[in-house]
Amino acid sequence: MWKLFDGNTVVSDLNLEIKEGEFLVLVGPSGCGKTTSLRMLAGLERPSHGRVWMGEKDVTDVSTGQRDVSMVFQSYALYPNMSVYKNLAFGPKVRHESKADLDERVNKVADLLGIKALLKRSPSALSGGQRQRVALGRALIREPKLFLMDEPLSNLDAALRVQMRAELIRLHSRLVDTTTVYVTHDQVEALTMGDRVAVLKDGVLLQVDSPNDLYEFPSTAFVGEFIGSPKMNIVPGTLERTDGRAYVDCLGVRTELPTELAKRLESDATNGSVLVGIRPHDLHAVGESSDEGTTLSGVIDICEHTGTEIFATINLGEQRLIARLPRSPMPVQGQAIQFAFNKGQLYLFDVTTQQSLLRRTPEREKVSVGTGATSLL
Ligand SMILES: Nc1ncnc2c1ncn2[C@@H]1O[C@H](COP(=O)(O)OP(=O)(O)O)[C@@H](O)[C@H]1O
Ligand SMILES: [Mg+2]
Repeated sequence: MWKLFDGNTVVSDLNLEIKEGEFLVLVGPSGCGKTTSLRMLAGLERPSHGRVWMGEKDVTDVSTGQRDVSMVFQSYALYPNMSVYKNLAFGPKVRHESKADLDERVNKVADLLGIKALLKRSPSALSGGQRQRVALGRALIREPKLFLMDEPLSNLDAALRVQMRAELIRLHSRLVDTTTVYVTHDQVEALTMGDRVAVLKDGVLLQVDSPNDLYEFPSTAFVGEFIGSPKMNIVPGTLERTDGRAYVDCLGVRTELPTELAKRLESDATNGSVLVGIRPHDLHAVGESSDEGTTLSGVIDICEHTGTEIFATINLGEQRLIARLPRSPMPVQGQAIQFAFNKGQLYLFDVTTQQSLLRRTPEREKVSVGTGATSLL
């Protein structure tokens, strides 16, 4: 499925099969086409090319009201002059029901979301989190097959966001028949909430995977950097393969790749320039008497304290690296540091295409998606 606005492609050949009952997260930087994709699923935007399917049905020309979808937006858009009860009971699908049926529905949803005590209040008398719950309730009361959420937590403060995140996951596990597509620009939200996560950049789908596989087997340097915090260090290097062995030259040291990693090299990973990815927690300080062959010397620059650990910027000539260091010994700005990286945890990417040069491990080969799905084609 494609979307062009005024001749500009904002969603490019998005081809994605969403499994029934799954919680799929669409993640990517601002402006990459997440909202546009979600709106096409909802029927609020028509694809410029391609089709949208729900199960066996082509719904490309079916209106939003007939699609059995509910959407929750970043702004809650509650009716300010109506009570919470009326806000919940106002949806087109429910407002013609009998008083008794409506009461039952409203109470069920209010119960699920823990807002029963608020039914008589007006939205202005609610906290941000409570308003968000009412907005969710309004979407839930329709009992949709497909639940679409566009950055629903981004207006909440940090603590509430974490709490609502957990509540949404709990809610999803209770609504077994509901498929959720959740949009966020926040990779932490994506990893914590998604059964699978789809990474978009500039309207292009780069990778769809479980959070764990996305982290372990990023398909491109962009995904490597985007997923994980602080982000992966990417430095220039050289690959050399001889007699079944592989060596990587980067940061001024030559390292032989462990066999496990060398075996995963793609056949087209030939000698020459590569991009080397090193995650911040795969860098560690080493003592002066260390016999690690690949000890590097740098100077600690900025230290960011997170409570449990410290993210330190290490200057190594022209290169800047982020390392996750323990609190003890406490790193200090300006201090010299000897450090090394975990050779078995390197990532390698093609300089030109940015594609990963490492295959997945055989036991983690990607399984194809099952049927009964909602598709964006
Ligand atoms: N109605 C529209 N008309 C023209 N351009 C649009 C319209 N809606 C979105 N865009 C553009 O499409 C791109 C993707 O937007 P959007 O899907 O909102 O991104 P995201 O939700 O990932 O931040 C942006 O460059 C945005 O400016
Ligand atoms: Mg958006």
